[in-house]
Amino acid sequence: MKVISGVQPSGVLHLGNYFGAIRDHIAWQDRAESYFLIADLHALTTQRDAAELRENTRNAAMVYLACGLDPKKAALFRQSDVPEVCELSWMLGAVTPLGLLERAVAFKEARQNNQNCDAGLFNYPLLMAADILMIGADAVPVGRDQLQHVEIAREIAKKFNSVYSPDAPIFCLPEAKLSEVPFVPGISGEKMSKRYNNTIGILDEGEELARKVNAIVTDSKGRNEPKNPDRCTVFALLSLFLTQDETGSLAQRYRSGSIDYTEAKQTLIQRLDTYFQQIRTKYEKLQKSPEFVEQTLADGADRARQRAHVVLAAVRRVAGLRIQ
Ligand code: ADP
Ligand code: TRP
Repeated sequence: MKVISGVQPSGVLHLGNYFGAIRDHIAWQDRAESYFLIADLHALTTQRDAAELRENTRNAAMVYLACGLDPKKAALFRQSDVPEVCELSWMLGAVTPLGLLERAVAFKEARQNNQNCDAGLFNYPLLMAADILMIGADAVPVGRDQLQHVEIAREIAKKFNSVYSPDAPIFCLPEAKLSEVPFVPGISGEKMSKRYNNTIGILDEGEELARKVNAIVTDSKGRNEPKNPDRCTVFALLSLFLTQDETGSLAQRYRSGSIDYTEAKQTLIQRLDTYFQQIRTKYEKLQKSPEFVEQTLADGADRARQRAHVVLAAVRRVAGLRIQ
């Protein structure tokens, strides 16, 4: 079984990325042949500062390593270090109906909100399909917002198979695996996302951490008033660190009005600080070993390219390009 997933290095990685993606990704490394990419080519659709993109990409790789990715088990690589993906993306695009890409929610939203609508954003799902199909991945662990992209990759794989190799499919059909926590709310209550500027970073600590948690939007119910845990972002974030029983007791305190938001936020700050302490320490160590990080990314790219060469050779053969 092969698994691939990744994150965009379009900013500092946050709790949504951790609980919705990275933690699950790392669990896969013990169960399947695993590939994880830092999607710097995808990030080009929004990031125009070269130095910042380079730094975010390296930082994202270090976060994966600090969170427990073991380079002996899983391949971690920069998307742009495997340029074969661009060739495959073109070949997939040649058989992809326009309507399939037009239905992509991310593109539709950008268009509605009059955000930049460059061709790169439109082709975003094509490149992601190429990432997935290039590895021949069976499973793609993602958060809820990425489900549609995996579905599109599946449709493209089917289309390519039916056009070029109906009897002996070139691509297996990837299946999305929804992460254990598919939705983490941000400070504003919407989905936590770099795009909405409502994130709490995995590496945040001290005053910055406290400032962000204290900024979480709640209703204005006072200490003794009953509160609805199901509509509270602080509760949702706290429950990420609690057992089922503990979550039940906390919900009870909310409903009975025996906890106020100041106390809940204080507890959240402590939990976050303790939970990510080890990860922060490991990250600091990695910052002092840039060669190790580079070597890990280079090895990961080598492994991904080996897979890519096998898949691309088959694709070139059935499509009528020179067999390399
Ligand atoms: P962002 O929305 O901040 O740009 P990405 O699109 O790079 O994040 O997401 C990387 C991974 O993290 C994806 O698998 C995505 O589903 C997951 N993810 C991001 N934000 C959240 C969230 N708030 N809740 C759950 N999963 C998330
Ligand atoms: N688009 C994904 C995101 O924003 C990142 C990504 C790029 C990805 N290529 C992928 C995820 C391949 C899974 C598989 O989160």
